[in-house]
Amino acid sequence: MTRFAFLSDIHGNLPALDTVLAKIKFELKIPANNILCLGDIVGYYPWITECVSTIRDLEIRTVAGNHDIASSDSNPKNVFLTLSNPIAQEALKFTRLVLERSPDDLEYLKSLPSITRGNSYEAVHNSPAFVGGFEYVTTPDDAIKAIKAMQKEVAFIGHTHQPCVYKEHKKDDGETDVRYYDLNDLARETGRKPFKLDPGVKYLVNIGSVGQSRDSNPQACFVVFDDEKKTIQYYRVDYDVREVQEAVRSSEYGKTTFEKLAKVYKKEMPKEHNGVPVSTVGDFLAVRLEQGN
Ligand SMILES: [Fe+2]
Repeated sequence: MTRFAFLSDIHGNLPALDTVLAKIKFELKIPANNILCLGDIVGYYPWITECVSTIRDLEIRTVAGNHDIASSDSNPKNVFLTLSNPIAQEALKFTRLVLERSPDDLEYLKSLPSITRGNSYEAVHNSPAFVGGFEYVTTPDDAIKAIKAMQKEVAFIGHTHQPCVYKEHKKDDGETDVRYYDLNDLARETGRKPFKLDPGVKYLVNIGSVGQSRDSNPQACFVVFDDEKKTIQYYRVDYDVREVQEAVRSSEYGKTTFEKLAKVYKKEMPKEHNGVPVSTVGDFLAVRLEQGN
């Protein structure tokens, strides 16, 4: 078996996780021991212990994301500094409360390593240049730093929820530069075929997010890496967004945190999103979370 499935940024969204895992297992026939999770199992959505249990039960190799660290860190004074947006901070308070009632899951999140490596790949939540930190790769300079720090030919990352590939490019003067590909660029280059990795060139692959897409496509996202053929392929799958909205609205989280946040967002509520009616504050906030706003 040379194929590995990489998934990341589940954020407590069990319908999205279940859909992705079913596709990996039944359609792509990739076994659980060839699945890697790049962190942020928790945060934002209400299926906190369910998502942690799913990953633990399948023994999926996992590295820590910033939400996993913030949710399980024993020093609550520091953890809020790691999450800058107010929705993330409110979600963190709720997540910590739930995890306090589930000590095994809390210990599991605490125990996650910051990086894992295979023969030809490495996997880290944020950037190979800042392992264990929270820095984002959002610019070519960030990607160049990451590529210079890489020990393997391909690195898989998550954290931004923005699927994309940075390919190492050596300039005439010997300096390192990168070429950037979003999913539209990859589709233009390869059609529906896997994207071929050139030998001797480093690639930084952001695998996007399972539970909270932020690239204006609400589908869950994950990547399959073929270690023998040296290809990567992105997959997007639909999941039941209505189920997520309903769960957010009716959860303890929805009743407390979301109603507080509602005051801030009341004026902006749209009538519908992707054909799904948005009639309550819970609906609206679920949409915002889905879009990462
Ligand atoms: Fe995340």
